[in-house]
Amino acid sequence: MFSIIAAVGKNRELGKKGDLIFHLKDDMKFFRETTSGHKIVMGRKTWESLPSKLPNRTNIVVTSRDLEGPDEIVHDINEFITDNKDTDEEIFIIGGGKIYAEFLPVASKIYLTEVDAEDKEADTYFPEFDKTKFDRKVIKKGSQDDLTFDICLYQR
Ligand SMILES: NC(=O)c1ccc[n+]([C@@H]2O[C@H](COP(=O)([O-])OP(=O)(O)OC[C@H]3O[C@@H](n4cnc5c(N)ncnc54)[C@H](OP(=O)(O)O)[C@@H]3O)[C@@H](O)[C@H]2O)c1
Repeated sequence: MFSIIAAVGKNRELGKKGDLIFHLKDDMKFFRETTSGHKIVMGRKTWESLPSKLPNRTNIVVTSRDLEGPDEIVHDINEFITDNKDTDEEIFIIGGGKIYAEFLPVASKIYLTEVDAEDKEADTYFPEFDKTKFDRKVIKKGSQDDLTFDICLYQR
């Protein structure tokens, strides 16, 4: 099964200029604890935005290229989805925008950190999705400087 994990602004902002918009310590901690020990799947651009492989996780990168560094490379996303969607194992989809859009139709859970802020300079957005198809639960509320956020779980 696939679980998406992302942090978004009020307008679904995800990133700008190849980097994150919000750098929230408690959200990073939640991300680390939630994904630790699991397979994580990301697009090539998100992979390139990381300083290094994320430790204690199997780093899987979707790309049309040949890359050095990730634990696994996926060239055929449809084959990967077919092979993994019915497993009990929770596989985390960690971004970015392109990869979220491709996995949203098959994701069972969405861990979404909803930040009460916007950024007009964002250039990457989380896809729109029909929230009526999911139950929403707030896992944790947080704040940092002048930002407040809710870490939510949307479950089909
Ligand atoms: N807020 C958050 O939670 C969060 C999380 C992650 C990332 N981000 C941000 O999101 C931005 C990056 O997102 P993005 O949408 O630009 O890029 P991305 O989804 O990270 O990567 C896109 C790349 O993935 C590969 N790809 C995607 N679909 C493919 C397919 N079907 N087959 C083969 N390869 C495929 C392609 O790589 P090739 O070009 O190599 O073929 C494509 O260029 C950054 O700003 C990052 O910081 C935010």
